[in-house]
Amino acid sequence: MNPFGVGMAHGKVIWFGEHAVVYHHPAIALPLTEHRIHIKMDPSSKTELISPFFNGPLEGSQGFEGFIALLERLREILPFQDATITLRSDIPVGAGLGASAAIASAIVQAAFDLTDHPLDAGTHFDLIQLSEGYFHTNPSGIDAYLSIHDEALRYRKDQSPESIQIDLDAHLVIAHSNVSGSTKDAVEQIARMMKEKKSSKKMADLGHITLNALEAIQAKELKKLGQLMNDAHGLLKRFNVSHPVLDDLVDQALSHGALGAKLSGGGLGGIMIALFEGKSGALAFQEHLHQSGYPHVFIKALAA
Ligand code: MEV
Repeated sequence: MNPFGVGMAHGKVIWFGEHAVVYHHPAIALPLTEHRIHIKMDPSSKTELISPFFNGPLEGSQGFEGFIALLERLREILPFQDATITLRSDIPVGAGLGASAAIASAIVQAAFDLTDHPLDAGTHFDLIQLSEGYFHTNPSGIDAYLSIHDEALRYRKDQSPESIQIDLDAHLVIAHSNVSGSTKDAVEQIARMMKEKKSSKKMADLGHITLNALEAIQAKELKKLGQLMNDAHGLLKRFNVSHPVLDDLVDQALSHGALGAKLSGGGLGGIMIALFEGKSGALAFQEHLHQSGYPHVFIKALAA
């Protein structure tokens, strides 16, 4: 047993294929290695969380069911009981940037570090998925996988993820809409729609967009990638997982020279991503959004 345990995990952004990936279609996701969750776990007489968004005992607190279940499981497999969990985050929570998976990922690492037990990747993934089951209902595993791997991925549920090479003279602007989105609500809403036949067709169309995007990434066809992002946003809107603020951000991105834009992650709020050729347009749009009251706007390079 160590005096304390530490863990760290990064966020992710889904470029193409959110929601469709739950239905076994492919998705393309990128790690956000500069945006991390840090956890320190100190043995204590009760389990409580100290964080920028919540301070107090976890037991009985709403919205933390996944972490509570995860800690219960960790207590079954590791020799520890209660702990004060101190969380630092550079990832906005409820934004579609994979914060819930990254928190679970870092908690698992910290518990294994505290108790000096080796942690293998399979156990790590399964434990994150246990927690994600409470936040996503039916998690594809894409967020869990990305929180422990730092390569761009083509991800398909229940198949081995493949790393992909992305080398484009382009940048993604990732803008938080300031509206918190519930992935659980979005996934459950789509599950209801998927009971209708015409929704399966729409979902298959989302899957095809991702396959076309994979080809466009290889062929370095930026205009096509932008168009595919617009098409994906249109389909996600038809699944009712967009939000007026996200739609407005998409329009603003396009009028500021983006090649394409879409919501990313669960939707109903959270983030919008926009593709810009080169870097200067992305920087100018980031500045515009900062001045318009959107403090969380990041830029992700798409070069190798
Ligand atoms: C959330 O980041 C991605 C979704 O596709 C849900 C999932 O894959 O578990 C909306």
